[in-house]
Amino acid sequence: MVIGLIGAGNMARALARGWGRPVLVSDAGSGRAQAIVDEVGGERVSNLEAAQRADVLVLAHKPHQLAQVAAEISGAATTVVSVLGATPTAALRAALPGARCFAIMPNTPVEVQRGAIVYAADPEADPAVEATILGLFRELGVVVSVPEGLLDAATSLSGVGPAYQALLAEAQIDAGIRLGLRPWDAENLVIETMAGTAELLLRRNRDTLAVRREVTSPGGSTARGLAALEAAGLRSAFHQAADAVVGPSRK
Ligand SMILES: NC(=O)c1ccc[n+]([C@@H]2O[C@H](COP(=O)([O-])OP(=O)(O)OC[C@H]3O[C@@H](n4cnc5c(N)ncnc54)[C@H](OP(=O)(O)O)[C@@H]3O)[C@@H](O)[C@H]2O)c1
Repeated sequence: MVIGLIGAGNMARALARGWGRPVLVSDAGSGRAQAIVDEVGGERVSNLEAAQRADVLVLAHKPHQLAQVAAEISGAATTVVSVLGATPTAALRAALPGARCFAIMPNTPVEVQRGAIVYAADPEADPAVEATILGLFRELGVVVSVPEGLLDAATSLSGVGPAYQALLAEAQIDAGIRLGLRPWDAENLVIETMAGTAELLLRRNRDTLAVRREVTSPGGSTARGLAALEAAGLRSAFHQAADAVVGPSRK
């Protein structure tokens, strides 16, 4: 299956690295398409050529560039997957009449095939084509189907999630350094704890309470640390962040 990517930025690069096979890629002139091709193989092409030659064309430019890109590829693209934020399937269909359009929201860990990928389930989609697309994205991680109206909510967890996790890691590392740890040691301890806890949560059937209780003795140090995080407003900070991501229309 020939994969085409329009756009060669952070998300296109993560997808290409995750698939790890030759792709057709275009950019707006920066040369980033060539850098992807140099890494995974394939060809740097024009938008139109990507649309004409790809079995699956992934739109990975910025959302506001849709009209311009669609004007170049309309009529040539047959199966289009958009990873554009805040762009409903109806907008894709309007921009690309006749193309089969799918809205998918990956996150950057697709690069290491540990992505959390949101699919806006489309009752009108051709089941065979849909299965092919979802199979392609399942190579890159877990695919979660949600009604299109919840795409923004899902994105507020997974799309933005790598930035949140990186910030959480950074804050804990700084706290460890303040207590005297060397940066490298603090980084190792925090990042491995994150990765290990994620594995453990999956093993424990996602039971967050069980994982917390296993390390929380009554009146002990973990209980004191958790109480300090609650008092500092950790939960409400995440609610506020979710609202900030989805915007005032969802409040
Ligand atoms: N980054 C994430 O974590 C993430 C997660 C989920 C979804 N997304 C979505 O992915 C899309 C890309 O985001 P990004 O972070 O990868 O952005 P980015 O790093 O700014 O990359 C955008 C790419 O689009 C290319 N481009 C712009 N206009 C074009 C045109 N007319 N024809 C062909 N290519 C064009 C740019 O070309 P040049 O290189 O020449 O400038 C660049 O390679 C966005 O729609 C975003 O909503 C991103």
